[in-house]
Amino acid sequence: MMHTHEIKRERMGNANLIYPKLPSEDPANSVTLHKNYYTDQAIFEQEKQDLFYKTWHYGGWVGDLKEPGQYLTTSLFDQNVIIIRGQDGELAGFYNVCKHRGHTLLNGTGRVTRITCPYHSWVYDLKGQLKRARASETTPALDMDSVQLTPINVDVVAGLFVFFNLDVDAPALEPELSEFVADLEREIPELRDLVRSANPREEPDPETGTFLDNAYPVEANWKIVMENFLECYHCKPGHPGVEALFALNDLTYEGHNLWAKQKSSVAGIEGGKQIFWTLFPNLVLSTVVGEKPYLSMFVFAVPDGPTRTLPGYGGYYQLPDDDGTRILKQNFNQVGAEDKALCEAAQRGMRSLGYEQGVFMYTPDNSECTEEASHAFSRFVMRYVSKN
Ligand code: FES
Ligand SMILES: [Fe+2]
Repeated sequence: MMHTHEIKRERMGNANLIYPKLPSEDPANSVTLHKNYYTDQAIFEQEKQDLFYKTWHYGGWVGDLKEPGQYLTTSLFDQNVIIIRGQDGELAGFYNVCKHRGHTLLNGTGRVTRITCPYHSWVYDLKGQLKRARASETTPALDMDSVQLTPINVDVVAGLFVFFNLDVDAPALEPELSEFVADLEREIPELRDLVRSANPREEPDPETGTFLDNAYPVEANWKIVMENFLECYHCKPGHPGVEALFALNDLTYEGHNLWAKQKSSVAGIEGGKQIFWTLFPNLVLSTVVGEKPYLSMFVFAVPDGPTRTLPGYGGYYQLPDDDGTRILKQNFNQVGAEDKALCEAAQRGMRSLGYEQGVFMYTPDNSECTEEASHAFSRFVMRYVSKN
């Protein structure tokens, strides 16, 4: 078994090591990530610190943050954060932790004029500056002016979706996603009119349950779950019933630096298209073109250690006057159960002495058998995790 320090040597260019090779730029000539990336606790910790804590994550809807003082809270692993609209109209973000003794400051969503800690009532303004602390006059250890909630990075994509990044030095997200946003607007011309609605409740199918029951938890590394989602090379052998949901004969799968797109005809709507976009690392957006415009968002793979994956928080966006009825009721419950089993079997293979790493399959026309999007995802992971 390859150890982390040996992988590090390879990263430093040790020519004597054959394994692990890293995925190369050309999707037609690239290995997959080495098996240790799917089992190793140290690599998982590195992914947390160097990838998840340095990349952008969906936080919520900008409509929840219209007025000064409106806030939402959300989490990335055990890092809870506040995103809040300031008096000046600007969005700001902070770790949701008081600088006195560490109590959580705000919960859920709401509106405040000041941020008051529930524990001993320290008061911060909407920029995170400490304004009041009882007994501060007699406590020389407390320098009020220097106490400021630790900031995080916040950005809004397409005027709708609030994203956050724990890395304050990360480049703004929206400019990097201009192609992605243009594609969303091309496919959903009403995009900017959509509002977040309550998540539509999925009625459990008496025979197969719900998608979430069927597909999660997955006893597999989160990257196996994403890479499986990002290709349909497995669809024919792995999902015998999939063509009842979408067609494979005109399916395309494309991979970009920060995102991927799957598009295909859809059963049940003449001329209709099923589209899935993935924003790396783990957010999936989907719509059906040919129905009333909507966008559903889902954090597809929340890592729970190196070998277990849970679902995350999503959102559902539709036109304000949408009554929620749809031509097409898609049922992915069976597919979810099949994908869970496929991912879990592949995960067991990551411990086999008979396996090291594979290759990405490629078709120049981005059709059914291409793994170009999984390749793009692996390159994304590599940019953060193998650079040290
Ligand atoms: S922990 Fe917040 S005021 Fe004491
Ligand atoms: Fe699948």
